[in-house]
Amino acid sequence: MTVKLLALAASTRAGSHNKRLLALAVAQATQLGADVTVLDYDDCDAPIYKGDHSGALPAGAAKLSAALRASDGWLLASPEYNWSIAGGLKNLIDWLSVDAAAPLKGRTGLLMCASPSTRGGISGLQHLQVPLEVLGMWVYPQLIGIGDAANQIGADRLTKEKDQQHLVTCVTDFVRATKALKHA
Ligand SMILES: Cc1cc2nc3c(=O)[nH]c(=O)nc-3n(C[C@H](O)[C@H](O)[C@H](O)COP(=O)(O)O)c2cc1C
Repeated sequence: MTVKLLALAASTRAGSHNKRLLALAVAQATQLGADVTVLDYDDCDAPIYKGDHSGALPAGAAKLSAALRASDGWLLASPEYNWSIAGGLKNLIDWLSVDAAAPLKGRTGLLMCASPSTRGGISGLQHLQVPLEVLGMWVYPQLIGIGDAANQIGADRLTKEKDQQHLVTCVTDFVRATKALKHA
């Protein structure tokens, strides 16, 4: 039985490090037989959530919600901003939280970050884990944080062998866990 994954890099930047890291995870998951749909972050634009919302979600958030509901799990690459969650992504998660369809609930997530700093954005990923779990997502417990991203992300693998092995292990375990939870 095929696992369906949504892949999103929370950056619109041309040459985004997070898009390049996500592409490696997508390639690995595809090689393992997962059916991966890549969503463009440009298609997920949403106004700032102001708390007095009623009715339909804005188009960008609705598109993300539908893509999540059509998937079993989420490969999510996001920049770290000021040691925490990038604001645009947090805003989208807030929109998803008022969606009656609860698109995060019962799904799995694998979080990754590519960053120019040596810390690899791990602090931002730890913060990102919190709202996703509160909203019912099962987040894979290992995070993928790649620092010095300009030099460490190649076209078809990560430069450092230990980083590449970590990526392969995480994606492999994540696909297996998503398959298991889908039938739980
Ligand atoms: C507002 C802002 C805050 C940032 N804060 C951090 C940070 O806390 N840690 C970090 O590693 N990089 C930080 N950066 C740098 C980003 O990691 C860098 O711009 C990265 O290339 C963004 O990801 P992308 O290449 O996928 O677009 C910040 C950038 C911006 C614009």
